[in-house]
Amino acid sequence: MAQPLVLGIETSCDETGIALVRGLDLLTDVTASSMDDHARFGGIVPEVASRAHLESFVPTLDAALERAEVSLADVDAIAVTAGPGLVGSLTVGVSAAKALALAIDRPLYGVNHVLGHVAVDALVHGAFPEEFLGLVVSGGHSSLLLVRDIATDVTELGQTLDDAAGEAFDKVGRLLGLPYPGGPHVDRLSQTGDRSAIAFPRGLSRAKDLARHPYDFSFSGLKTAVARVVEGYEDAGREVPAADIAASFSEAVADVLVTKTLNACAAHGVSTVVIGGGFSANSRLRDLAAERLDAAGITLRIPPIRYCTDNGAMIAALGSAVLAAGLPPSTLDITIDSGMPLTDVLAHV
Ligand code: KG4
Ligand code: ZN
Repeated sequence: MAQPLVLGIETSCDETGIALVRGLDLLTDVTASSMDDHARFGGIVPEVASRAHLESFVPTLDAALERAEVSLADVDAIAVTAGPGLVGSLTVGVSAAKALALAIDRPLYGVNHVLGHVAVDALVHGAFPEEFLGLVVSGGHSSLLLVRDIATDVTELGQTLDDAAGEAFDKVGRLLGLPYPGGPHVDRLSQTGDRSAIAFPRGLSRAKDLARHPYDFSFSGLKTAVARVVEGYEDAGREVPAADIAASFSEAVADVLVTKTLNACAAHGVSTVVIGGGFSANSRLRDLAAERLDAAGITLRIPPIRYCTDNGAMIAALGSAVLAAGLPPSTLDITIDSGMPLTDVLAHV
């Protein structure tokens, strides 16, 4: 029998993403982004994002159905991001998903966005092994997960105690006078700098911190250290060596992420790592992870960038996994949960 056709809807931040997935086959995914509307404000403006979702929703849905050459009546189940994310943005997606579920009389699954960042890799690289680590790094999250089944058995080993990795890059981008979002600009600049020019701190990496927070991250001290270095040059009337700062900062972030991931692999006897989230575009993280995981005999899976940034395929993929696990659908009473914990794959009423 054919696998169920799942419609995935993602509206947790600034991307309206809609995708159709059958089993592990991605039929299509379409994304509309409102980032250009936010750039001039130097950050995401929630009201602007919500309105953009409302405007983009129907055209994005129509485009996805057309490209997949299916009609709404062919859809067997609807998966939608229920959290975490921006309240207004999530509300647009969940309300639309409820309306569609009611209209076509199909089950609705309100799923966890962060787990979707891991789930999507199965569409690209095939079924997951029995056990693996998921490192989700983006502008909003930095989490290390031990995954036995993405729908039913995920343990959060650690997360950031303050800034997310992408957020730290965006803040350093601002310190270096780069446009928002700073992450890709800092990355580009770092490629022309000296990684060992400045010995920036590695958060939560000293013996006493490691004992309490073996797999947690902290990037706010690092950001402050960058600010001090920049100020030092400015106060002395000297030119800020922006490329060296960007390279040394990138090295500090990538080093901590990869070191803690490797430590977790060793502690849990895991030999596959999946990295997801928009920050996985970072060139230093990619290079260092490839180099050090390969040396340790660990398989690294990173989906192409378009499936790392927010998209509908990740939500359809997680919906597909939830259906395969036979979990009961959400009711039409579910609300959004802007702080949805990783322990929940599905939203509760
Ligand atoms: O997953 P994503 O698209 O949105 C969130 O859910 O946050 O991630 C975007 C984040 C932003 O903070 C952006 O600056 C950062 O990822 N980012 C990068 C790079 N590309 C995107 N940071 C560093 N280097 C990059 N190449
Ligand atoms: Zn995300």
